[in-house]
Amino acid sequence: MANIIKQNLWNGTQVKATEESIYYNRRTILKQIGLATGALLASPMIGFSKNKNQDNNFTFQGMDKFYPAIRNEKYVLDRPMTEEYDATHYNNFYEFISPKDRNIYNAYKYVDPFDTRGWRFEVSGLANKTGIYFLEEMIKEFGLEERTCRFRCVERWSMAVPWTGFPLKKLIDFFGPMNNAKYISMTSFVDKSQMIGVENQDWYPWPYHEGLRIDEAMNELAFIATGIYGKPLPKQNGAPMRLIVPWKYGYKNTKSIVKLEFTNKKPKTFWNTLSPNEYPFLSNIDPDVPHPRWSQKIERMIPDGEPRPTLKFNGYGEFVGKLYS
Ligand code: MTE
Repeated sequence: MANIIKQNLWNGTQVKATEESIYYNRRTILKQIGLATGALLASPMIGFSKNKNQDNNFTFQGMDKFYPAIRNEKYVLDRPMTEEYDATHYNNFYEFISPKDRNIYNAYKYVDPFDTRGWRFEVSGLANKTGIYFLEEMIKEFGLEERTCRFRCVERWSMAVPWTGFPLKKLIDFFGPMNNAKYISMTSFVDKSQMIGVENQDWYPWPYHEGLRIDEAMNELAFIATGIYGKPLPKQNGAPMRLIVPWKYGYKNTKSIVKLEFTNKKPKTFWNTLSPNEYPFLSNIDPDVPHPRWSQKIERMIPDGEPRPTLKFNGYGEFVGKLYS
């Protein structure tokens, strides 16, 4: 088991940590907000204070003209929609963990310096078209639709929200992967001067990076979200473009994407690099496969922790089950 130098999240001291203590720290934070154990999960989510007057920090950057988009009625929810305030103020975005409060769910407080205007991303690797592309040009090319989706974090909180965006397949078809491209990797923006959590947590393998098999990425459910609740994404939700793969745990859903690479090698992923036994590459939601440290049988809707049975593939088996048969 590799030792990793990391910072103790509570007192700021440098400690030599094993995989286990990394997750102990992660869970300590979750306990603090009422999410890490069954007992705590039974209570409302404490530490999630509401201030409905707080600015949501939406980044319109000239893209507001594309919103709201027409909803695609094919994708229906089996539960009430999570309130907009909750989905945009209870986030997981390690790049914006501040040493001031060390709360992974307070990203919205620290995103101001993040400049998402004129967003460009790079496409490289085994594709017919590669280079740097403007997101706005892609939106004009593909159009936007709205989809309601369930979303499930590996830490067991969940929500149901309307994303706006376009199918990842449209993007892939546009770039034309070669036959030997078996995977697509996705990398998030990183800049210490704009992201307080990057500056203060140098033990993480920045930038945040994830990947999918090409057949997964081409599935109709894989989606590039540029908006939520009929508006462009707020920065804390991964503005201005992020991945949505609702049958996989939340950490597969890379935020603020700046790079896509088509490759024939299985890409390394952020959490798997830190703890290979806990965060496998596929990470499909499955109530019968516990996380090594906790059961995945139940999930808790934000903000009140309403329990629901976890559904295999998050209930999307009819769309994605065939990928794994
Ligand atoms: N992407 C980046 N770049 N950094 C992150 O810390 N967290 C992941 C995922 N994408 C993360 C990320 C995790 S663990 C989850 S659960 C989801 O984003 C949370 O998405 P949300 O904040 O929009 O609910």
